[in-house]
Amino acid sequence: MFSTLAVWILALAALASAVLLARFIARWQRTPRAQPTFSFEEYDIPVDLINLTGAGPETFGPIAAGHIQHLEQSIGLDPDHFILEIGSGIGRDAIQLTKILSPKGRYIGVDIIKRSIDWCASNISRRFPNFSFVHYDLKDQLHNPTGTMQTQKIRLPITDGSVDRIILWSVFTHMFRADILHYLIEFERVLRPDGLIFATCFIVNDAIIASAQKNDLTPYGLRFAHLAESGCYINDPAHPLGAVAYTEQALQETIAKAGLLQKTMQRGNWSGHFPDLPAGAQDTMILSRKPVP
Ligand SMILES: C[S@@+](CC[C@H](N)C(=O)[O-])C[C@H]1O[C@@H](n2cnc3c(N)ncnc32)[C@H](O)[C@@H]1O
Repeated sequence: MFSTLAVWILALAALASAVLLARFIARWQRTPRAQPTFSFEEYDIPVDLINLTGAGPETFGPIAAGHIQHLEQSIGLDPDHFILEIGSGIGRDAIQLTKILSPKGRYIGVDIIKRSIDWCASNISRRFPNFSFVHYDLKDQLHNPTGTMQTQKIRLPITDGSVDRIILWSVFTHMFRADILHYLIEFERVLRPDGLIFATCFIVNDAIIASAQKNDLTPYGLRFAHLAESGCYINDPAHPLGAVAYTEQALQETIAKAGLLQKTMQRGNWSGHFPDLPAGAQDTMILSRKPVP
């Protein structure tokens, strides 16, 4: 009699434990797991978001330092500048710019990856209130496949004629011409009369495309063998916005249509066509508003 009761008690206890364990596992599975992070200066940056910039944690710092050096040399940075960065990613440049801009300076970063924008707002804006970040839910196969918004609906939350510097690292390399034109028209509106735009891109002609196909210097296998529209080549028809290149003429027409002026165009050697230059870098354009006659 006693042993039958003991067996029942043990069976019930086992059942209760099993139910509790199942509940615990279900709750554990629902709890969002912390992503691995990379410790950089005083920040812990989610590694998966660093990877979405196209480069990994090991090069995060060196690329950031290279960016700032390039910007200082080509467009100049001043502590009181108002800087707009399109494609701010996980704050590679913004973190460096917190050390350059004074409290009178201002920075706005724009990106289409919501988690990156949220991370930057929680970690950078919290310490530097003059740094803010804006998310646009634009559809992009690579960076935001579920996006619902169109670039041409964007109106930047910025007063006319107020921005000193606009920066785009490898953003026009992921965009078609009508969308680039829309951004450039917005830049023309928000840029100060003496302001400058710094944008990297892939600029091609037949010889550069031939060199790219022969040399294959980048890890992305850039060949630009597919004409997408007049003066615009894509690398992979399955991922059209993965990498987009333009002829110089197509870019100049777009820049002129937006009412902007191309001040300089500096070649990078991503294609291997310019052997005197270090390998890898994209081409760079510096644009300004047209002088008032
Ligand atoms: C090559 S990553 C560079 C990120 C960052 N500037 C860096 O150096 O780490 C390009 C960034 O542009 C963003 N991007 C792509 N298309 C965009 C668009 N139409 N508008 C704004 N950002 C865009 C991507 O989400 C990505 O963060």
